[in-house]
Amino acid sequence: MEEVIKKVTRKNPVESQILVIFGSNGDLAKRKLLPAIFQLYLDNLLPERFAVLGAGSMEKTEAENRTDVGASLLEFATKGATDNPEKLQLFLENVYYQKVHNETEEDFGLLKQYIDDLSARLELPQNIIYYFSIPPFLYEVVAGHLVKYGLNEEATGWKRIIIEKPFGYSYDTAIDLDKKLRNGFNEDQIYRIDHYLGKETVQNIMVTRFSNGFFEPIWNRKYIDRVEITASEKIGVGSRGGYYDTSGAMRDMIQNHLLQVLAVVAMEPPSIFDSESIRNESVKVLQSLRPIKPAEITQNVVRGQYIETLVDDVIQKGYRQEKGVAPNSKTETFVALRVFVDNWRWGDVPFYIRTGKQLPEHVTEVTIHLKPAPHQLFKQRCVAQSTNMIILRISPDAGVAVDFGMKIPGAGYKVQNVNMDFHYSDLAETKISEAYERLLLDCMIGDSTLYARADAVKASWKFVDPILQAWKTNQDIPLYFYECNTWGPKEANLLFGNKELKWRPPFKKFKTQ
Ligand code: BG6
Repeated sequence: MEEVIKKVTRKNPVESQILVIFGSNGDLAKRKLLPAIFQLYLDNLLPERFAVLGAGSMEKTEAENRTDVGASLLEFATKGATDNPEKLQLFLENVYYQKVHNETEEDFGLLKQYIDDLSARLELPQNIIYYFSIPPFLYEVVAGHLVKYGLNEEATGWKRIIIEKPFGYSYDTAIDLDKKLRNGFNEDQIYRIDHYLGKETVQNIMVTRFSNGFFEPIWNRKYIDRVEITASEKIGVGSRGGYYDTSGAMRDMIQNHLLQVLAVVAMEPPSIFDSESIRNESVKVLQSLRPIKPAEITQNVVRGQYIETLVDDVIQKGYRQEKGVAPNSKTETFVALRVFVDNWRWGDVPFYIRTGKQLPEHVTEVTIHLKPAPHQLFKQRCVAQSTNMIILRISPDAGVAVDFGMKIPGAGYKVQNVNMDFHYSDLAETKISEAYERLLLDCMIGDSTLYARADAVKASWKFVDPILQAWKTNQDIPLYFYECNTWGPKEANLLFGNKELKWRPPFKKFKTQ
């Protein structure tokens, strides 16, 4: 398996290419994309001949754009940029700009001309990635314009598009968007980015499972009692109220990131470790999710919304007071749900997933709760309730911990829970790459393993769509309000259906108890 994993982390030679960023003056480009590309440059992972072509609606010269990109890098790629001023200048020489108004068809004619000139001037083949860092309603518009001017044609080099989430707004719109993109691009040219899959620690779930002899034999319904996946955030919606109010936690986090994490936790081992085999296995999990019928929603799904709260003498705004949010909004900022994967391995094992904003910690982790030993010899002697857990901490303080009972030294047989843990930070020489670095490099190489495939996107919409529909149409389904800095509505614990069980509170410093 080790050999197999090396194949995925391989550093394939990256062909000379052009990265066109639509929406290059936007927040995502400044905060994530440009710093990620610059870091790849610092790590010598970019090809020798490479151009980043910003395509934005703002009128500006090449020189002005370079100044802007430099300023963004100093702000957001802080250490890499401030520590390497010369490299920063060299990098900026590879940055170009063309004004493109995404809704103006003719601008794409000018873009084509610009690309032809640039590739001739720099002797660059027309291997092009188009990154759609633009509002979702423009995806099909921009794709259509690219096709119109033949910017999708591969005679002069390969063409790939990277699409940000949300991929569609519902099951039907996702299918419709896919159809429209497929008018000019094949599935193997479409890279649907889900930054959770780019996280080193999410990939490590596969390695933990499939490269060790001792996890996989117990990774099934016989030994696992339940699985918890928590992605909590300390912040509210901030300046993204306008977007978030049309999305909500189900579309923003569950439909994509957390169902993908669930798929990685629950998938069967692929026969070989390549993009198609891995994605074939993970999509089967999504297709096996037991649909939640409208009448079962209240027992299986809890939604909540944060309200104005005094936290440490400071008033935290309620969701309805956030900019861009409707004053009577019913959008959920918290979701907890119980999900079943109806297959041979997982039959009747509940997966509990929750996510929310304005919770006490920013933590993402998966907890595998093992069933207790069949005969509890030491039950009376346990100093606390005995638990066996495997915790896969995605962030922060990434790592893995195993929690189990140990004899307290001394006379008698007193048992206490202890844990063995590994923290990525202990690997002194290792830097954990940002998700966008990994994903951009993969797309440059043509490796789509960590990108969501159309069938997976479809399967996860199919699962969440009926819940969203029921919320929209059935006024009787409650929206619970919760105070900021709490773990969401207390009703979320009712999903366990057993008074003794509740959500495991994740700690900032990663440990099991
Ligand atoms: C984004 C969501 O995709 O993921 C945000 O749109 C959310 O609302 C973010 O804050 C969480 O990502 P991370 O990597 O901070 O867990």
